[in-house]
Amino acid sequence: MLHALGIERYVTRSTAGGGVPVATLDALDLDALRDVVAACTRCGLCEGRTQTVFGVGHPAARWFVVGEAPGADEDRLGEPFVGRAGQLLNAMLAAVGLPRESVYIANVLKCRPPGNRDPQAIEVESCIGYLRRQIELVRPDLVLCVGRIAAQNLLGTDAALAKLRGQVHRLDGVPAPVVVTYHPAYLLRTPADKRKAWADLKFAREVASGTVA
Ligand code: URA
Repeated sequence: MLHALGIERYVTRSTAGGGVPVATLDALDLDALRDVVAACTRCGLCEGRTQTVFGVGHPAARWFVVGEAPGADEDRLGEPFVGRAGQLLNAMLAAVGLPRESVYIANVLKCRPPGNRDPQAIEVESCIGYLRRQIELVRPDLVLCVGRIAAQNLLGTDAALAKLRGQVHRLDGVPAPVVVTYHPAYLLRTPADKRKAWADLKFAREVASGTVA
């Protein structure tokens, strides 16, 4: 029946995370969480990956950047945002005085979707707990979501990016405010919107400093 529904792979919640029950994520530090992610078989994306892309950056970063999913370069190198979009992300962060090494960067999905297609609901459901635990452990002052997919999946909304920008969002159980901007890959295709992204970054800087609540 599952096959008839198009579900090729089924992993019970009790053994999700490559044999680690979901509940135990709460007890893991970043290194242990990285090991669990590296062994993860919770969804079918594990079959096509070269490696998992856990996240990178300062373990006590003030800003936590959330992207969508690894692309081909990230799958090959094991680090988020290392391709052209990553270069632009670095420049965006530098524009608000943040070297890449000073922030933490992670994606909603830790494995590359084939052909860079959008994440599927089952993949997000399988993976989002890892991101939430990373945010809990880093305890940033601000979470910056780049792009519609990252924002919608982290915030649990289907609102358009235009509606999500320019606001302070809150996540249950996470003290850090969440701000949304464009994905750098979109900005590479649509440079005219870089001006709006710059406004978002200045807004994010105010939110992080507590000037805007
Ligand atoms: N795009 C993303 O959302 N994440 C990456 O790591 C690379 C490109």
